[in-house]
Amino acid sequence: MTELMRQSNEGFKYNQIQAIQNLTKENLEDEIFKRGPVVAIFGGQLGDEGKGKVTSQFKNVDYVAVGPGGGNAGHTVVCTNGKSIALHELPGGAIIENAKVYMGQGRSVNISGLYKEIRELEENGYNMKNKIIIAGNAQIIFDNLQKKLDRIIEGLKSKKVGTTAKGIGPTAALKALRTGPNFNILLNDNPDQLNEFMKVNCNLFNGLNIDELMKEIQEEKELLQNLIDEGYIQIDSTNMILNQAAHENKRILIELSQSAMLAADGGMYPYNTSNDTSVNGAMSALNLPEVNTRIAVFKSIKSKVGGGFFPTKFEDEEFAENYRKKSGEYGATTKRPRDVGHIDTVEGRKVLKTNRTDIIVFTKTDLLKELGTNAKIGEKYIDQRDGKEYINEIPATKEQYENIQVEYSSAFDLSKDIIGIQNPEDLPEEYTKYIDYLFDKLEFDGNVLLGTGPCPQEFMVYK
Ligand code: IMP
Repeated sequence: MTELMRQSNEGFKYNQIQAIQNLTKENLEDEIFKRGPVVAIFGGQLGDEGKGKVTSQFKNVDYVAVGPGGGNAGHTVVCTNGKSIALHELPGGAIIENAKVYMGQGRSVNISGLYKEIRELEENGYNMKNKIIIAGNAQIIFDNLQKKLDRIIEGLKSKKVGTTAKGIGPTAALKALRTGPNFNILLNDNPDQLNEFMKVNCNLFNGLNIDELMKEIQEEKELLQNLIDEGYIQIDSTNMILNQAAHENKRILIELSQSAMLAADGGMYPYNTSNDTSVNGAMSALNLPEVNTRIAVFKSIKSKVGGGFFPTKFEDEEFAENYRKKSGEYGATTKRPRDVGHIDTVEGRKVLKTNRTDIIVFTKTDLLKELGTNAKIGEKYIDQRDGKEYINEIPATKEQYENIQVEYSSAFDLSKDIIGIQNPEDLPEEYTKYIDYLFDKLEFDGNVLLGTGPCPQEFMVYK
């Protein structure tokens, strides 16, 4: 490095965040899109942070885009008629009026599942015609292929990943093997390629049945063709519609599935999902060169489904069960009870250091009340054998995880009820202390929004 280059780097702070000044509830959406047309909402913990609810609050967007992942993600959205429905194939933002839904080339779609959700939304008053665009390169999930393999692979493992059984891992694997079915290939006039792919798959993997599979493929193809003919689905064969829209400065809201920590390379391998569910993954999954504003969603307690490690898990199972019941911590896709525990800033700092983040939405702040005088923040892990501290990184092995102890902040008394509070000045002092302490520990200088209740208007711009 020359002296001149060294000097020009002086004072440069890698990953510097510029908070939006004078952000209010009223100007929020416009201020966010002033930074550029592409905004991404991603999970900061282990999924289920409430991303779908955050996206569905946006009103003035041209596209809601979903990148990596598929029906493994579930989000409960509240329709305008008050009914709650769980979406899996579609993003929570599918209920935004006039916004098109774009499912990118990195997405995996089950056609029947998508059809059911289109019908359910229509039955609840949403017009789904001319709304959904699917990239031609998006993979298709079939019951008799990837979902079956997901169950077989889990069944063979002694330590289960605890997948959602939606076929996500096998879909990623078949795509990497270049024998996975995608929309362009399914709709191709020449069926030879698809037939050959399926023959190879059935030869490779025990337990698949070529006749059942080809029958299902034929049925799903007919269903897809009907949805296309009736104007429900448009296939973007060159995968460039969203890219074009970004270059025309159309407003694009990306709703990521799962979380940065569950990404294929994100955290606790092998207890992760099989796609890159970080913001970087969204860019390649959607064919976009840039994301202008990144919004991480964190929940006030941490929750987790499936196998793996959970250092800050509540120790007392009765306390955990009580919290779970009060806050409804059950999987939207599988209905499994989620493990619950204290917020963990070790994982949090790792996520924020590896995913530039402009805004954090901190959901379910009102539910901290259920922790009463026992609200603590996980600050670091310490290996009991040699005193090694984990501050910005997580352990790499099972053995390390089994030997760490979490060092917590002292407990805060958050027993006061804050439900529905929408101004920072109205928060009890203990809450302000807690929030300031937490974001200081997360080393986060961007904007912070706090969710304070289940209704859409129950949130505040904290800073
Ligand atoms: P898969 O994505 O179904 O293969 O599951 C892999 C891991 O990710 C398992 O631990 C799942 O419980 C977890 N996982 C997948 N999707 C979600 C989600 O939407 N929320 C929370 N965890 C998820």
